[in-house]
Amino acid sequence: MTTETPVLLTIFGGTGDLAQRKLYPAIFRLFQKHQLQQHFAVIGTARRDWSHEYYRQVVRTAIASLTNDAAEITNFTSHFYYQSHDVNDVAHYQTLKSLSQRLDQQYRLRHNRLFYLAMAPNFFETIAQHLKSEQLLTTDGFNRLIIEKPFGHNYSSAEKLNKALTATFRTDQIFRIDHYLGKSMIQNITNLRFNNQLEALWNHHFIDNIQITLSEQLGVADRAIYYDQSGALRDMVQNHILQILSLLAMEQPAFNNHQSITIAKQTVLEQLHPLTAHTISQNFIRGQYAGAEHVKAYRQNNQISADSNNDSFVAGKITIDNPRWQGVPFYIRTGKELAAKYTRINVQFRTPAGSTAPANRLTINVEPEATITSALNIQSERPTVLKPVSAFAQNDAYANLLQAILHGDATHFTTWEELAAAWKFIDPIQAYWDTHEPEFPNYQPQTMGPQAATDLLTRDGRTWLD
Ligand code: BG6
Repeated sequence: MTTETPVLLTIFGGTGDLAQRKLYPAIFRLFQKHQLQQHFAVIGTARRDWSHEYYRQVVRTAIASLTNDAAEITNFTSHFYYQSHDVNDVAHYQTLKSLSQRLDQQYRLRHNRLFYLAMAPNFFETIAQHLKSEQLLTTDGFNRLIIEKPFGHNYSSAEKLNKALTATFRTDQIFRIDHYLGKSMIQNITNLRFNNQLEALWNHHFIDNIQITLSEQLGVADRAIYYDQSGALRDMVQNHILQILSLLAMEQPAFNNHQSITIAKQTVLEQLHPLTAHTISQNFIRGQYAGAEHVKAYRQNNQISADSNNDSFVAGKITIDNPRWQGVPFYIRTGKELAAKYTRINVQFRTPAGSTAPANRLTINVEPEATITSALNIQSERPTVLKPVSAFAQNDAYANLLQAILHGDATHFTTWEELAAAWKFIDPIQAYWDTHEPEFPNYQPQTMGPQAATDLLTRDGRTWLD
């Protein structure tokens, strides 16, 4: 018996970097798992004039490292079609519609359609409107819109975009991607907390602080133009870090389903302690990397202006206004050109009353390895052991997310309400930074950021945990 869901996937931005690096491999993984098999077709669109054959060659290259089976590759890529498309030209949607109808029949897709917007966000609104006005949405299959970040660059632009999209698609048809929510270990935070006795300790009585680090070793590479408009705060904190924080901090959802989880996450995001100019200046550190022997300084990138004040690093201290987290800081940090590439969550417990032993710690390694380690005091030659208690298979985040979309499961996607709360928290930080001149550059490549990020914890009598 096959678990295949018949579907037509139309990718806007089919020639782009995201499609090639993430989407084609993810679609192929679902094909290998028989989630997609015979009854699927993919239309790649972009302005360029490519043939189906050329497009298939590009897809072939994108999945080359995942298999050696030539017949499998040929079978897979035969489902891919290319349609040159100008998103502003209404007539082009008619061409797309004819091709969609033809493929629908040819592959018996039951009028199920996914529309993946893997391109610059300023086109999202236009595409969504035209999909509706030119009747690319079907009446008897499912229609789902998949949106990549950034979802706005502040609260008001995000709200405007959301209004435009919800004028065309119902809320339950919109899937906003945050690819960190596709990572196996992030998906496991709810299991870890609520299917173990650990939850009894998950509060300010037992936890001293929580640290979330998303460290990147690369610089801005070829995304300088986008990144210079965004910075680490909007690129990583507004979405990935606040999503992770919400999973760690939320109350136990009433039910283990999308609606309950989403409300719990939204609630905690709305309880982040509001910031003032003073607390921003004290608790949020921004950085920009200098040059070094083999690394060009951020400002020396030839697509970035020599006086750019954009942040390539952020560290911050966030507190939450609810009884569970009274007085517990969540320290966060992320940046480019740092010492190593990893994503890690450290939960630092308090020292038990009367004990002088080091406090317990739980470490959730999200990447590169997906493990949970704990620092416990046991009787041995060394008082503290770090022991992997569990290792998970790393699944591809995009494959996880695409599979969920095929099944209509919205659990690992960001709702508008969560996004709104996140932007409302981030906007004052950005506004403060926009009006205060930083002293950049302020950190050396291949370090863990500016000295001020270390001082942020030292001031509280704490240190960043490895
Ligand atoms: C993206 C950011 O959302 O996440 C990039 O736009 C960043 O700047 C990337 O490099 C990091 O993702 P990952 O999965 O490699 O940790």
